[in-house]
Amino acid sequence: MKLWDKGGNPDEQTDQFTVGNDRELDLALVKYDIIASRAHARMLGSIGLLGGKEVEQLTAELDRMLQEAEAGRFTIEKDFEDMHSKIEYLLTEALGDTGKKIHTARSRNDQVLVALQLYLKDELGGIRDQVSELFSLLINLAARYKGVLLPGYTHLQIAMPSSFGLWFSAYAESLVDDIYLLHAAYRVADQNPLGSAAGYGSSFPIDRDFTTKALGFGTQKFNVVAAQMGRGKVERTTATALASVGATLGKMAMDVCLYMSQNFNFISFPDHLTTGSSIMPHKKNPDIFELIRGKCNALQGVPVQLTTLTTNLPSGYHRDLQLTKDILLPAIQNLKACLEIATSSLREVRVREDILNDPKYDYLFSVDALNQRVLEGMPFRDAYRELAAEIEAGTYRPKKDARHTHQGSIGNLCLEDIQKKMMQALEAWG
Ligand code: ARG
Repeated sequence: MKLWDKGGNPDEQTDQFTVGNDRELDLALVKYDIIASRAHARMLGSIGLLGGKEVEQLTAELDRMLQEAEAGRFTIEKDFEDMHSKIEYLLTEALGDTGKKIHTARSRNDQVLVALQLYLKDELGGIRDQVSELFSLLINLAARYKGVLLPGYTHLQIAMPSSFGLWFSAYAESLVDDIYLLHAAYRVADQNPLGSAAGYGSSFPIDRDFTTKALGFGTQKFNVVAAQMGRGKVERTTATALASVGATLGKMAMDVCLYMSQNFNFISFPDHLTTGSSIMPHKKNPDIFELIRGKCNALQGVPVQLTTLTTNLPSGYHRDLQLTKDILLPAIQNLKACLEIATSSLREVRVREDILNDPKYDYLFSVDALNQRVLEGMPFRDAYRELAAEIEAGTYRPKKDARHTHQGSIGNLCLEDIQKKMMQALEAWG
């Protein structure tokens, strides 16, 4: 049952290859296709292309369909190419000729565009909320453990004193950048493409302001060719934002794995958050954070995958664009799962409070000791040489009182400023 059936249908192999995973992937988007169809029907009514009764019937039918979709009961059988075909089929089955009119002044090309953009807006909003929840947790952990010192490393060599306050809030502040990027992606998706039809508009006098308002878009993509060019671009922009969150989360997961190792032994988790080994009875492995790291690393490739898929396509619709769904939709679900489990696990993180008692960390304070001599009047380079000689001779004794006062240092975390910055970023999103 093809919308474009005019006899001489493609064979089974052609059908399978061209449909690909669309039937499954479209199930995530169908809700939005239905919502957009409802707005489209109302718009057609507003310009007199559908009668009032027809609009009512279509709306009622689409409302019913939406309930089914939201309950997870919408299905796309093998007889249908995609969600668009199934929706039109159901409307026609229920309403006869009225159902057949739904496709007036639209194409599957703008249907999939609008459904995808509505879907991405929702998903980006959900990810924003997850990021904001993780942010709050990290700020709370930073406040709770602000006095607990931790070795800071450069080159993975012991460098300078850090703290759990600094470490947790570093990832919190990094998430503010990610919110900026998520918001940028949201804004790109927040432009109504519906009405661009196959990519060149329509000779019907459609009212694009009507659907823009009805669907809650911030604005429309006015130029119909630009609207169609949004396919691929919206996905790429979203993927860039997802990859940014992924980079933050992946780096944090790597730190967690390292800090959980017995050789570091800075943090631990209750047993129910670790996994065992089939051979080594003592093992409590950080599989959760290893998989967060792996999934988030894989996310770094998603913008590249989408770029290579779409890079040399000329303007206008191309079936290649269907494949963006295969790449982006699982990536979104992966990031959401990572954010969820990272947050719930970190709620239970245990911090070791006496880490710096181990003498191997004594050198962390060499710069502070040097700085003290500078404050007492010695030129920096002389103090540096003096300290280096004491360390070499084994006479250096640390003073572990790490007094750092400037903004953003272990003694002055500026948690409130970071929180304010995040609040402003979220408020700008609205
Ligand atoms: N499944 C298609 C996609 O995702 C829908 C649009 C099909 N349009 C077409 N002209 N064949 O791109």
